[in-house]
Amino acid sequence: MKKSIITLMVVLATIVFSGTAVSGVEFLRGDQALTEDSKAPEKKKQMIVKGNIDRSYKIQPPMIPHKIDKEQINMKVNTCMKCHSEKTYKEKKAPKAGDSHYVTRDGKVQETVSSRRYFCNQCHAPQVEAKPLVENTFVGAK
Ligand code: HEC
Ligand code: HEC
Repeated sequence: MKKSIITLMVVLATIVFSGTAVSGVEFLRGDQALTEDSKAPEKKKQMIVKGNIDRSYKIQPPMIPHKIDKEQINMKVNTCMKCHSEKTYKEKKAPKAGDSHYVTRDGKVQETVSSRRYFCNQCHAPQVEAKPLVENTFVGAK
């Protein structure tokens, strides 16, 4: 390998491992060596947003406008479905999880949420009071 290429690689590695991206934005893990455990991220308070949150594009999983820090999703329970299931949504005045959520990967419609959609927060995220890491002018689709 040419000497200049090796020098370039060393410079790049130094930038990457120093914890600061080229743009001056600090990496989320801070300036910690990759061999160290990363610090737990700071816990931010979840927000309640009045009304639903506009989607940024057509088939986006809608954002969650309420807190979910008390909800549990595990082998035994999925407390989201206390409000978002076919049986409960009317009484709880909550939107029903879409029909797509009951379809298995083989296209079968089942009575309970498909395992593909069981971990709701894999796709639906709550909101926190957080500034964007980089200033931007993104505007979602209306
Ligand atoms: C106590 C009842 C309740 C529980 C439990 C609950 N929700 Fe909701 N959810 C609601 C209601 C009511 C709304 C309608 C907006 C509002 O009033 O906050 C809503 C709105 C939403 C929306 C927005 C839908 C849209 O079309 O914009 C999503 C996504 C959602 N919830 C996901 C979840 C997930 C994921 C969980 C579990 C981690 C959960 N919810 C637990 C009651 C609940
Ligand atoms: C793999 C991604 C994914 C997972 C996991 C998932 N959803 Fe969704 N969800 C979506 C998408 C995409 C939409 C919008 C289109 C649709 O309805 O399929 C949606 C729509 C919704 C809506 C709004 C329906 C409407 O008519 O406006 C609710 C409420 C909801 N999901 C609740 C849930 C709950 C509760 C869970 C967990 C049991 C869950 N979702 C799991 C992707 C997901």
